[in-house]
Amino acid sequence: MLTFKENNKFCYLWGMPILITKLDPKEYNKQEILKTITDNYDKDPDREVWASSSMGTNIHHSLEDINNKNFPVPDYTKLIKAYQIPTQHYIQQLGFNTSVNVEQHIVNYTASRKEAFFEPHYHTGCKFSMVHYVQFNPKENSGTVFMNPYLHNEYWQERRHIRKNIGVTDDVSHSWIYDEWKFPVEEDDIIIFPAPLKHYVKTYPSKTLRVTISMNIQLIDKDFATIGSELRSERSMFQKPTSG
Ligand SMILES: [Fe+2]
Repeated sequence: MLTFKENNKFCYLWGMPILITKLDPKEYNKQEILKTITDNYDKDPDREVWASSSMGTNIHHSLEDINNKNFPVPDYTKLIKAYQIPTQHYIQQLGFNTSVNVEQHIVNYTASRKEAFFEPHYHTGCKFSMVHYVQFNPKENSGTVFMNPYLHNEYWQERRHIRKNIGVTDDVSHSWIYDEWKFPVEEDDIIIFPAPLKHYVKTYPSKTLRVTISMNIQLIDKDFATIGSELRSERSMFQKPTSG
């Protein structure tokens, strides 16, 4: 029986609907998944084949390397079922018809206990995405950084004065005056957000191996055909350099 803790938070970040909630670790094989990922990380803390920019992505992750026999794929069977309830809760919050069909695809995991970077990107071939903080110590590890999509941030210097007046705040309603936003997350938290909301990850040296799993959510109904699969489920903001 799946459960869903009602201590969830639904909010809007720059007008984008966000759900932050917790996943009960007893609902899936958490320790088994962590062992597989930890063993993979210990083999190579720099597993990275996806990035195509000069941004310097150097976090251990599985994207576009899923068929590498050196790194077993965690058994996500129970986990993907556990994700169903928060996913349903999110799409109902948005006002979707409950009869809409939902497809969930786990697309990546990341692991890091060193200083590492996962470059700014958005998720493609889906409407929404999710990040799950499977192993995470808030005192040592850093959350996902979401990037303000409004273009006026590049030139509207007056925001500095507004920020100075309001002061440092973690009230998401103040996010409009910030370039970036990081939610205060804990282990077992998940965040669901619209797929085009750009984000990146910066990790720092820690005793705790920071482990996250990301999933894409597609909605399909007879009146709105799904977009065809794209080659990449996470797409960098940057093009591969053609020279130098
Ligand atoms: Fe991502």
